[in-house]
Amino acid sequence: MNTLVLFYSYSGKTKAVAAELAANESAAIVEIKDTKRPGKLKAYTAGCFSAIKGTSWSIDPLNVDLTEYDRLILLAPIWANNPPPAFNAMLELLPKGKTVAVKMVSASGKSKCRERLDAIIKSKGSIMESFEDIKC
Ligand SMILES: Cc1cc2nc3c(=O)[nH]c(=O)nc-3n(C[C@H](O)[C@H](O)[C@H](O)COP(=O)(O)O)c2cc1C
Repeated sequence: MNTLVLFYSYSGKTKAVAAELAANESAAIVEIKDTKRPGKLKAYTAGCFSAIKGTSWSIDPLNVDLTEYDRLILLAPIWANNPPPAFNAMLELLPKGKTVAVKMVSASGKSKCRERLDAIIKSKGSIMESFEDIKC
């Protein structure tokens, strides 16, 4: 299966997990970047608010054709128990017909977004094959 690892990382931990995974899977890897990286205060205030609401912030173009891949491995840190707004922006771009594995990286190893992500991925016409919380 043609696999792409697609990740967002604010402070580098998810990036390290994604890089190791991509190397192990011999998969291509692409980073999701905020158009304007928020400072810590904004991340913990407006960023967490957006994460809870499930809203998106602007991201740079991904520079990859997601339709070329059968399987996507999506990774992101947890913000206020949910995916960060840049990750939500990427979800809007998800093509249909993909098999999607989700790995959420956090300090606690606990998130509350499995069902939300399953529903979003389904609404895009793809399938969430697995969901994992990684404590890091
Ligand atoms: C704005 C913000 C909110 C966070 N909220 C949570 C949280 O609700 N639960 C948790 O376990 N960790 C939380 N964390 C910690 C990160 O999820 C954790 O440190 C993660 O490994 C960071 O990944 P990164 O270095 O790729 O950004 C938060 C971090 C930030 C910056």
